[in-house]
Amino acid sequence: MNESDVKKLFEDNGQEHVFGFWNELDPSQKNNLIESCSQVDFKWLKERCDNVKNGINEIEIPTDITPAPVICLTDTKDHKEATVLGIEALKAGKVGVFLVAGGQGSRLGFNGPKGCYEVGPCTNKTLFQWHAEQIRASSIRYGVSIPWYIMTSTLNHDDTEKFFKDNDYFGLGAENVKCFKQRMVPSVDLNYKLILAQKDGLAVNPDGHGGCFWALCNRGALDDMKTRGIEYLSYFQVDNPLVKIIDPLFIGYHVKAGAQMSSKILKKAYPEEKVGHICLDEGKTTVIEYSDMPEDQMHAKGDDGELKFWAGSIAIHILSTSFVDEVGGQAKLPWHVAHKKIPFIDDFGSHVVPSSNNGIKFETFVFDALPITSSSITLEVAREEEFAPVKNADGLDSPASCRQLMSNRFGEWLEAAGKSVPRDGEGNVSINIEISPLFALDQDEFAGKCPEGLEVKDGMVL
Ligand code: UD1
Repeated sequence: MNESDVKKLFEDNGQEHVFGFWNELDPSQKNNLIESCSQVDFKWLKERCDNVKNGINEIEIPTDITPAPVICLTDTKDHKEATVLGIEALKAGKVGVFLVAGGQGSRLGFNGPKGCYEVGPCTNKTLFQWHAEQIRASSIRYGVSIPWYIMTSTLNHDDTEKFFKDNDYFGLGAENVKCFKQRMVPSVDLNYKLILAQKDGLAVNPDGHGGCFWALCNRGALDDMKTRGIEYLSYFQVDNPLVKIIDPLFIGYHVKAGAQMSSKILKKAYPEEKVGHICLDEGKTTVIEYSDMPEDQMHAKGDDGELKFWAGSIAIHILSTSFVDEVGGQAKLPWHVAHKKIPFIDDFGSHVVPSSNNGIKFETFVFDALPITSSSITLEVAREEEFAPVKNADGLDSPASCRQLMSNRFGEWLEAAGKSVPRDGEGNVSINIEISPLFALDQDEFAGKCPEGLEVKDGMVL
């Protein structure tokens, strides 16, 4: 669209204020603003804003939910068969890994892609390096190259690509690490007006991890998977260094059930834990985010006196690529609304960082695809083995708690191999220890490799 078309379109939609500084802009800034404005889909924006205005929540919170069936930690009778199936799929090169890393990471307050955050208790290895080492170790174990697809956004795409390039792709090979951008959508203020983030650009945000369906299908990743014969994608978030990126047991259960999208869960530590709840709504698997879960359901107890909705999502899934292909481009996921503090340019041209919520962001969530699957399995995992997210700068789910949980897991591996590990009064390992995925991917592998005369001490790195 040319300049006058864009300006007319914005006038027709009552958004001409975004051209308020037009006369101050140089030609290249004018181009930037036209480019930024050309991305706005007014039909989409009107639908979203009308829904908010009219109090219509696109996320229907079901009232009649029941707990979802879960393959629990103790249900081990089919584990062997599932593991064999998972290993078969891996060795046949049918598995790729998929990281969603397009988010803003605003809660952590870290400037840069969250994957560049250093979490190694002793080495300060970054989240990206932990993930890369796991993928490399799994490639070696199963004798295949495992392609890694990484969804980024305009906020961090260039920095992410540069980080991998500067680190020589951590030995995975540039051809096996594919970054692609998700879409951005505009945010609005509380009067439904578009916001200027700078004089020559609108405030936009990534369209949520649910945007991965569109991005996988339209940014070349799915085509690459088809060329390579990838049938299953192991989906994970950037924030959890303990994630088992390649888990033959999980893959195998998914394959065995002919599932389209499957999920890992753990037992919630307490009713209000900030994780999504996996439930059944009229027979369909669904995730209700902690912020949407009705209070009474969050605390409800089952006949056994335990939490009724105990299954907390850790945002680890298997996606069948045929499912992504089927729903991909057209996946009509509902839009979640979040009131946020959105920095803006005020009428006088000053950049303002607001201290209270001044705007609305729209996002879709990947787990909203679960109800449209024809089949899905849910697998329980052990918290101490697989969950140590870094979300907040301090307190719960912080870098400090993550490093502690990492040392705890490695401590358990050492103890299982017969070593003595110092612990504090609360049972936490009281020294920093680190075992690279390239040394051992799991406790069993570690047990077979633990060096005889190993001295367990603070700063120990294997
Ligand atoms: C998430 C889940 C929650 C789950 C918990 C487990 C949501 C809304 N909630 O919470 O159900 O129990 O993790 O740790 O996801 N991302 C993108 N693009 C986006 C937005 C996010 O790629 O547009 C990526 C982020 O980079 C990150 C992941 O998605 O890797 C999770 O996003 P985040 O906003 O941090 O979710 P949480 O609220 O932590």
